[in-house]
Amino acid sequence: MATVLALETSCDETSVAIVRDRSVCSNVVSSQIAVHQPYGGVVPEVASRRHVELINPAIAQAFQEAGLGWSDIDGIAATCAPGLVGALLVGLTAAKTLSMVHNKPFIGVHHLEGHIYASYLTEPTLEPPFLCLLVSGGHTSLIHVKDCGVYTQLGQTRDDAAGEAFDKVARLLKLGYPGGPVIDRLAKEGDPRAFPLPEGQISLPEGGYHPYDSSFSGLKTAVLRLTQKLQDEGPLPVADLAASFQRTVARSLTKRAIACAQDFGLSTIAVGGGVAANSGLRQHLQEAAAARGIRVLFPPMGFCTDNAAMIACAAADHLQRGHRSSLSLGAQSRLSIAEVMQLYVS
Ligand code: KG4
Ligand code: ZN
Repeated sequence: MATVLALETSCDETSVAIVRDRSVCSNVVSSQIAVHQPYGGVVPEVASRRHVELINPAIAQAFQEAGLGWSDIDGIAATCAPGLVGALLVGLTAAKTLSMVHNKPFIGVHHLEGHIYASYLTEPTLEPPFLCLLVSGGHTSLIHVKDCGVYTQLGQTRDDAAGEAFDKVARLLKLGYPGGPVIDRLAKEGDPRAFPLPEGQISLPEGGYHPYDSSFSGLKTAVLRLTQKLQDEGPLPVADLAASFQRTVARSLTKRAIACAQDFGLSTIAVGGGVAANSGLRQHLQEAAAARGIRVLFPPMGFCTDNAAMIACAAADHLQRGHRSSLSLGAQSRLSIAEVMQLYVS
């Protein structure tokens, strides 16, 4: 049994959690969405400054809610890659300092490995191998989960991430930020077949298309062109546009995830990231997977979006396997999920 305190500050949520193996003792999440809303997206320097203000109160609250003290903690973790470097540095520096002060092991965690571990929090009996479909504002990845620290990225986006596409389309429809929840809501009132939109395909040099990689920038441009054309014809059918866009993204992600699971003989797809909240994706993927005998796990929303509980859960597993990070570990804006074990000294 390992009890871990973890800090997550890779983007715009300041989060601190205490987790015992796969069980959450506390999970404090201070969202910065309201701070960034006037800018229509996350402003990195603003995010870093806000993390500095929020991190110490969040640590205190995490202990209070868990009813635990420092003597109960076996290790201290922080997200160290990938993410906004200035933002990552806040949690990372705090965690390394606390590790020195309290003489506890320090564990750096890859943010995407955290998203994978969100599924273990919801389904503690889940064991690899399985496929993780990770769809957030920064990532669209299909990851073959083989063991703790052992991952192969099978599919990715070649341009915009799925959540980024939702945010950009929402911006051009003047729906505000973040775009996913509002498009999801509007899509329920619209006709998903109103406008046929192109699903991005990645051509292969030898002919045909990449079976697992996606592209959303062409879809975004198609919505822009369509919007410009429709604007001249009268009031914009926003709900129909939202529904048609959402259906295209959901179908694209579902097709790739199912192909990947079938080709690699994986019978479980665990979904993570903010876009996992999308009702269109949930419905499409559940239906397609059920028809092929594939199990799909959608963690509750609080574990899909960024949170420190998933980071603590990953760190607890690494800690139990004897993996520790050096106190000289730095923040990295990019790091492949296949390189996770670089973060540990033993
Ligand atoms: O995982 P997350 O909280 O942060 C990142 O690591 O990026 O994901 C945020 C993204 C945003 O792009 C947001 O628009 C999208 O998740 N999102 C959604 C929904 N709720 C959040 N996208 C589609 N449908 C939703 N219901
Ligand atoms: Zn994330």
